[in-house]
Amino acid sequence: MGEGGCGTMSSLLLLPGDGIGPEVTAQSRRILDALALPGLSVAEAPFGGASIDVHGVPLTPETKAAALGSTAVLMGAVGGPKWADVAYDKRPEAGLLRLRSAMNVYANLRPARCFAALAAASTLKPEVIEGLDILFVRELVGGVYFGEPRGIETLPDGQRRGFNTQSYTTGEIRRVATTAFELARLRSGKVCSVEKANVMESGVLWRAEVTRLHAERYSDIALSHMYADNCAMQLVKAPRQFDIILTDNLFGDLLSDLAAMSTGSLGMLPSAALGAAGQPGLYEPIHGSAPDIAGQGVANPCASILSLAMVLRHSLGAPDSADRVEAAVEAALDAGARTRDLGGTLTTRQMGDAVLARLG
Ligand code: NAD
Ligand code: IPM
Ligand code: MN
Repeated sequence: MGEGGCGTMSSLLLLPGDGIGPEVTAQSRRILDALALPGLSVAEAPFGGASIDVHGVPLTPETKAAALGSTAVLMGAVGGPKWADVAYDKRPEAGLLRLRSAMNVYANLRPARCFAALAAASTLKPEVIEGLDILFVRELVGGVYFGEPRGIETLPDGQRRGFNTQSYTTGEIRRVATTAFELARLRSGKVCSVEKANVMESGVLWRAEVTRLHAERYSDIALSHMYADNCAMQLVKAPRQFDIILTDNLFGDLLSDLAAMSTGSLGMLPSAALGAAGQPGLYEPIHGSAPDIAGQGVANPCASILSLAMVLRHSLGAPDSADRVEAAVEAALDAGARTRDLGGTLTTRQMGDAVLARLG
């Protein structure tokens, strides 16, 4: 089909995980099978709670090795009440953090795009979100998620104290900022860097390093800075002012969920976590395992399907196929296809059918 990178020897590892993870990943699998990319092998492995149930740990050495040896990994979601009492470092979410860290996928691209057909599905007014197209570049393998020391200790007076460390090095900031600036050159040439330099030293360093890199190599980009609390407010008030939002691990987690609702549903937002060039990427919907609707077959598979499109574009060198998948999702929405979260009645599989039927 004339798409360079997706020749022989490409491999995609599916990690469906827990809750609605397997339900939405199954629809991406159907789309992938319909694309019939030559030379692509697809494998699947247990991950998260599903792996705990079988192997006692959320990420086995075998699954980790398979991920590191793949061209790309497409994950569903992990976690759920069933594993809530498992020791903290053995929980499904800990397995996900370990996988991100092992793959060193430091730049998490989370596009929040409002499809025209969904402008009315948002809780925000259509005139505020029509045409919204924000790209979050979230640092993914550092910050308070990974900083040491961390733990829960008992104090001499018998109280307990829980603590984590927010920490960023120059190198960690510069590499993710480089990704944001490079992507800005392919978009509108605008980056807004978000931290809390007013109260956190890690934020002071973040702002200084982003400013320095900008002056050194990216002065063609319009760079602005914003405190994270103001950014949350601005994302609700006037979200279209943003193009690329560059931010840390924790703020990126919060702000991307917030922006997801502007697009109509959390079930619409895909993501791509990328590391050094040539290394495997980790792709996942930004939503979780949705225990409240798991097993009912009603979850929206679009975030997973759009994550597959990102796999095609960023890891498999198949941009034409990526365009086809995204266009099929858009056409399905234009035709009125809606799962429950979008105000419709389609099941997960029926939404998959609607996209498949438009895969031109
Ligand atoms: P969640 O994202 O699972 O769900 C939040 C709300 O959004 C729920 O009402 C859910 O029904 C709805 N929702 C999410 N995805 C949807 C979809 N595709 N279609 C329709 N509705 C959807 O967040 P939560 O409830 O806070 O977390 C549940 C579990 O998932 C926790 O164990 C959490 O740690 C985990 N989690 C995992 C990931 C991941 O694997 N990347 C991400 C977030 C949360
Ligand atoms: C996400 C999730 C994860 C995160 C959890 C499950 C570890 O919320 O991918 O957005 O906080 O990064
Ligand atoms: Mn999250």
